[in-house]
Amino acid sequence: MVARPPVMIVVDRMKVEDLPAVHEIERASFTTPWPSHAYQHELENNRLAQYLVARCGDQIAGFAGMWLLVDEAHITTFATAHAWRRQGIGERLLLALLDLSVARGAHEATLEVRPSNTPARRLYEKYGFKVVGVRTRYYSDNNEDALIMTTDALEGRAMKERIASLRADVAARPDIELDSDGQPIVRAADHAAASAAAPDAAQPPPGGGAVNDGPRTIRPSSVTRRRV
Ligand SMILES: CC(C)(COP(=O)(O)OP(=O)(O)OC[C@H]1O[C@@H](n2cnc3c(N)ncnc32)[C@H](O)[C@@H]1OP(=O)(O)O)[C@@H](O)C(=O)NCCC(=O)NCCS
Repeated sequence: MVARPPVMIVVDRMKVEDLPAVHEIERASFTTPWPSHAYQHELENNRLAQYLVARCGDQIAGFAGMWLLVDEAHITTFATAHAWRRQGIGERLLLALLDLSVARGAHEATLEVRPSNTPARRLYEKYGFKVVGVRTRYYSDNNEDALIMTTDALEGRAMKERIASLRADVAARPDIELDSDGQPIVRAADHAAASAAAPDAAQPPPGGGAVNDGPRTIRPSSVTRRRV
């Protein structure tokens, strides 16, 4: 295997032309994937929605989205492609979502996650999300509860310092290297951890859907503050 030079990861707005790659990650990451037209609808019709991708050249390594609801950022979806996990992609995406939230005046960020989704819970805990409640039998595929996780005030000193410190850690991470097939070279320990990752965590497709499946908590009816 011949290593190529390290690559740049760029977090950028999701575009309609990104949707085939986004949907491939979606299907590989969630037991109840959103249909790709749901993302298209979000991008084209939902003024509250913000969707981001992590690009590496012409590859998409991960994506995340949220709805900005008055003073709250509600994270709706979040996934990293299997080959790219444990490389800091999730952290880069979350930092970008939180930056955008602050820029748009959100006071806190919130989401739902499966109790069984250890990788996602660890990521959110690292960034200051705390469990503030439970939605009983929230996920209709297996009737698993959802944990509601919310940050402290984004403009507060504690969160600002936490984010600044984590941002510095992410910036100091070793560069990601790609193999000759353009896939990231993953250290053995990281690969084992990533392989052990829970299959998913997201939820119902925008526009309605019977199944809750991830942080993607939001459907249009929840704009009225009903987070189900
Ligand atoms: C959750 C997910 C997005 C994390 O993405 P990622 O790019 O691998 O995350 P990162 O490399 O940025 O990891 C950041 C932190 O997340 C946590 N984490 C990520 N993967 C983990 C794992 N397998 N086990 C334990 N903690 C993990 C750790 O706290 C890690 O920080 P550390 O490296 O200092 O230990 C990814 O596992 C995923 O796509 N899962 C399937 C979809 C999903 O569940 N989405 C979330 C729905 S709520």
